[in-house]
Amino acid sequence: MTEKTVNAMPTKEFFIDMLTRDIPLIPAIVDLVDNSADGARQMKGNGSYAGLWSRLEVSTNEFRISDNCGGITVEIARKYAFRFGRASGMPPVKHSIGEFGVGMKRAIFKLGRKFKVESATTGSRFVVEEDVAKWAQKDEWEYEFQSVDENTKVPTEKCGTTITVTNLHDDVSRSFGLENFKTQLVNELKASLQDPISRGLRITLNGIPIDAEPFEFLTDEQLAPAYKSLSYGVPPQKAVNVRLYCGLGKESDPELAGWHVFCNGRLILEADKSADTGWVGGKARRNGIPPGFHPQYNLLRGCAYFDSDDPGSLPWNTTKTGLNTDSAVYRAAKIEMMRLMRPVVDFLNRLKLEKAGKDDEDNAEKGPLEQLLAESASEDVANPRFDLKTRATFTRPTVAAKQVTDGPEMKRIQYDMPSDKVDRVKKALKVRSFKDVGEKTFNYFYDAEIED
Ligand SMILES: Nc1ncnc2c1ncn2[C@@H]1O[C@H](COP(=O)(O)OP(=O)(O)OP(=O)(O)O)[C@@H](O)[C@H]1O
Ligand SMILES: [Mg+2]
Repeated sequence: MTEKTVNAMPTKEFFIDMLTRDIPLIPAIVDLVDNSADGARQMKGNGSYAGLWSRLEVSTNEFRISDNCGGITVEIARKYAFRFGRASGMPPVKHSIGEFGVGMKRAIFKLGRKFKVESATTGSRFVVEEDVAKWAQKDEWEYEFQSVDENTKVPTEKCGTTITVTNLHDDVSRSFGLENFKTQLVNELKASLQDPISRGLRITLNGIPIDAEPFEFLTDEQLAPAYKSLSYGVPPQKAVNVRLYCGLGKESDPELAGWHVFCNGRLILEADKSADTGWVGGKARRNGIPPGFHPQYNLLRGCAYFDSDDPGSLPWNTTKTGLNTDSAVYRAAKIEMMRLMRPVVDFLNRLKLEKAGKDDEDNAEKGPLEQLLAESASEDVANPRFDLKTRATFTRPTVAAKQVTDGPEMKRIQYDMPSDKVDRVKKALKVRSFKDVGEKTFNYFYDAEIED
């Protein structure tokens, strides 16, 4: 400082406060698991993550996350990992979730006042331990290694990172004592990390494994989802590949209905029914999408996957809890999302009319569209091993025509059986729909007992 300068250096307290204010506790923790997932990607690329794990342990005294996902090199720790914001020169990880260079630090500050980061890679290991309040008093923006070794050999299975936070903030400690909080955390991890989980990354919370839930689309040829793949930007650096699916789910479920937006496999928006994904607010009717979401659309499912080797080109915000709706890529993709959604919305309006036309609400006899829905098989879109059946546009099923068939006069058989028994028969028959279960078991009896 000279007589001619003024001090514009940010205070550490301001930084800590600003960083942690805008992110809730759960997304801050998810950020740490994202780092494990990025470690796994760096190790395995697009392959299986089997054998890799990320373990969370929370109690009212302590938070800990440990993984065996490759670790942080001393070089990366020294130059980049502990800095606020991604410094230029940081080696990029292709297709990573990490992008902004804040997640780990923000999570640590959000959780408590003392932390320890221990990490080992095949050729180095280090420990950094700090009391945040004491650090905030110092002028230097540095941490000291408590121990560091750059001349070591660690077997790959022992390479990983452990972050421990103690002196938890009071509200954090209280949350960690609540079952309800832990359930919310599990649900969030399940949804946000379904991609790495389905690739084999084993995530646990206090020892309990977190499974990815399949995300199912109906796949009957008359109901299969529309699919569109797009590419934006100038390949290879900035190419953003977009895959859009819009169709129907198996259950009428408000928690699944709407659009799910993923960036590099990370869920950013879940079951969105807002203007962000094309549902128009107010009274306007634009592109055939109705003014706003309504429970009659509870079967609608949309998935939008944005993927890029350069995470900086993806339309997410820094907390990865929502979109950067200013993104030109997102705005272009959204028009396509609305195009795909329109016929599905039309179909669901039609279905509502069919149901309204029934003389009796309790009438067990289903209308032709409802019948078709009930009998359709479904497949998981989230599972990378599956090749989901899709088509270019969702077109309305021609159910009326289906009923008029040539051949003998037909009789409909309808009955209920215990679900577990039906599932076992379905499995044994290797069929996908209950309709097939009915037909195959009927033919089995017919062939054995009736026909000569
Ligand atoms: N569990 C981990 N395994 C391997 N490397 C890690 C781990 N945690 C952190 N790192 C390293 O530390 C860096 C900083 O992590 P941090 O979460 O702060 O930022 P980021 O992941 O780069 O970006 P973002 O803010 O978008 O998460 C990472 O880029 C990565 O190199
Ligand atoms: Mg990160």
